[in-house]
Amino acid sequence: MRAKITKAAAKKNGIKTKRTISLISDGTVLDHIDPEAVFKIVRILRIDECDDQVTVGNNLKSKYYGRKGIIKVEGVFLTEDDINKVSVISPHVTMNIIKNYEVVKKFKSELPPTIEGIIACNNPNCVTNVEHIRTRFKVAKSEPLALFCTYCERTMHREDIEVRLIRK
Ligand code: CTP
Ligand code: ZN
Repeated sequence: MRAKITKAAAKKNGIKTKRTISLISDGTVLDHIDPEAVFKIVRILRIDECDDQVTVGNNLKSKYYGRKGIIKVEGVFLTEDDINKVSVISPHVTMNIIKNYEVVKKFKSELPPTIEGIIACNNPNCVTNVEHIRTRFKVAKSEPLALFCTYCERTMHREDIEVRLIRK
């Protein structure tokens, strides 16, 4: 097996080691995403169904949070509600709206008071798991996260969360 070469050695050999993710002209950039949440967010916000250019990066080095994920979507303008919805699985997401290559709006996610759909109740006997009913949780506490199921009254924590793909 060939020995792994360092970045410095690669550079010396004339290999370009730096490639940045392109800026976008018009659309949305989600930044500072928890690496474990990136692909779930792609599904929840149905970014996998976009026809225009989409770039997803994960486990990138971050100034603030160690490792982060980033999602860039051309031609789609997400809303504050969309971002708040995903804050339950990734607490620090920054949404940037880009127009003409410029950041025209920057918004940091906030937990909404209630969360509908998106996540499943972890009580197998909950009516939302037995019948086709949209889940609804009250955010009882944000740190550590505590979600109160309004149907079966069970309290769930971050480690209990299972994402359920919802249709808008
Ligand atoms: N971005 C982009 N296309 C543009 C402008 C910005 O893809 N035309 C991306 C940048 O690459 C960055 C994010 O949008 O990931 C936010 O851009 P900016 O506010 O310029 O960067 P920072 O100041 O580093 O943002 P923050 O303080 O939120 O980390
Ligand atoms: Zn329940």
